[in-house]
Amino acid sequence: MGKGQELYKKAKTMIPGGTSLLSKRPEQLLPENWPVYYSKSKGCHVWDLDGREYIDCGLMGVGTNTLGYAREEVDEAVIKVVHDGNLTTFNCPEEVYLAERLLNMNPWAGGVRYTRGGGEANSMCVRIARAYTGKDKIAICGYHGWHDWYVSVNLGDSDALSGHLLPGIPTSGVPKGLRGTSIPFHYNDYEELLGIVNANPDLAAVKMEVCRNFGPENNFLEKVRALCSERGIVLIFDECTSGFRETFGGLHMKYGVYPDMTIYSKTMGNGYVIAAVLGKKEIMESAQGSWISSTFWTDRIGPAAALAALDVMEKTKSWEYITEKGLQNKARWQALADKYDLKINQWGIPALAGYTFDSPNALAYKTYITQEMLKKGYLAGTLMYTCLAHTQEILDGYFEALDPIFADIRDFEDGKDVIKALEGPVCQAGFKRLN
Ligand SMILES: Cc1ncc(COP(=O)(O)O)c(C=O)c1O
Repeated sequence: MGKGQELYKKAKTMIPGGTSLLSKRPEQLLPENWPVYYSKSKGCHVWDLDGREYIDCGLMGVGTNTLGYAREEVDEAVIKVVHDGNLTTFNCPEEVYLAERLLNMNPWAGGVRYTRGGGEANSMCVRIARAYTGKDKIAICGYHGWHDWYVSVNLGDSDALSGHLLPGIPTSGVPKGLRGTSIPFHYNDYEELLGIVNANPDLAAVKMEVCRNFGPENNFLEKVRALCSERGIVLIFDECTSGFRETFGGLHMKYGVYPDMTIYSKTMGNGYVIAAVLGKKEIMESAQGSWISSTFWTDRIGPAAALAALDVMEKTKSWEYITEKGLQNKARWQALADKYDLKINQWGIPALAGYTFDSPNALAYKTYITQEMLKKGYLAGTLMYTCLAHTQEILDGYFEALDPIFADIRDFEDGKDVIKALEGPVCQAGFKRLN
């Protein structure tokens, strides 16, 4: 057992669930054999606690680092903050510079507030939208974090959220009184949303991801926009994850449909902690009449990192590069599947795309890919968040390594036992309580 697995065993005795982010649990990736912890990182390279080096062609920090790990320009800005002090009685000027920058980028918006996590930014949006409209209910589509207002969706139908990225989210600890306050709707199902709006005159906001797995059809976004405008409902686009991956800002810019509020997070600080809530002037002003305040929302590293990261993004046009590489990945995954006569279903915007085998063994195959790619020095499952450090050479190497693994999967489809080929249990999908 490597040092990482040893440490993880210890972690589970002290940290319930092992880690603070489900997607980084080894049980989700390669149970019992995932290296779990890192000692250092650079570009798309990560070193584990035993000093082994890997190329990250997988989660890339779960989407936090489109510029690669330890990007020099961003780290330099952070190191300057570390030298000058990250927090004082005064506020940091960077939060104003960043607000100016974000508002210039989003001319429809007139105000900015910051949080650090994406989930809390979502909660902030909900509070502001409720304060602005004086109404309570929220219609949701997509993943929006861990807070009560969102998880309460599952109080109605025990797994209504399973169609929104993450199956199995439990409601334990969420007040039952919230039942019915957040109502889910399916992406591209305008009639369903219209029904919810008609049945709930007390709807404060429609909160949704612009798109996650598939793009909009039949002018879905335009219709949602028009409906919200007509009924006085705040339209919130959660761009926590989609932001800065296909445009210099939100994915909504690609579609030319503008929200009343939006959220940027994940990659905005290229791995440093920062999230921003943007909204129309009159809506954001409602924040003044509501209690929204937190000490560490004023730290300096977040906005300083974001300013430097935005500079690098603009200079390199990172969103174009990562989208181009993502499109190439999609074509090459399909070509590999065709070569071995395997059926895969692809999903996701190019810069965070993935595929699922159309087979009852899909999860075992994903585990097998992770296991075999790890042996070849790659952190890779069945999806890839692309970054600037994914050079053509690295991606060529990745596909060369993947090819014989797809050949093995062909053998499994023809009857060879995939479970026997696994050196540990099959990975988990969705949320599960750990033993
Ligand atoms: C669209 C979206 N909203 C909200 C969140 C929650 O952000 P965080 O994990 O930083 O709380 C995520 C995280 O994956 C997300 O993808």
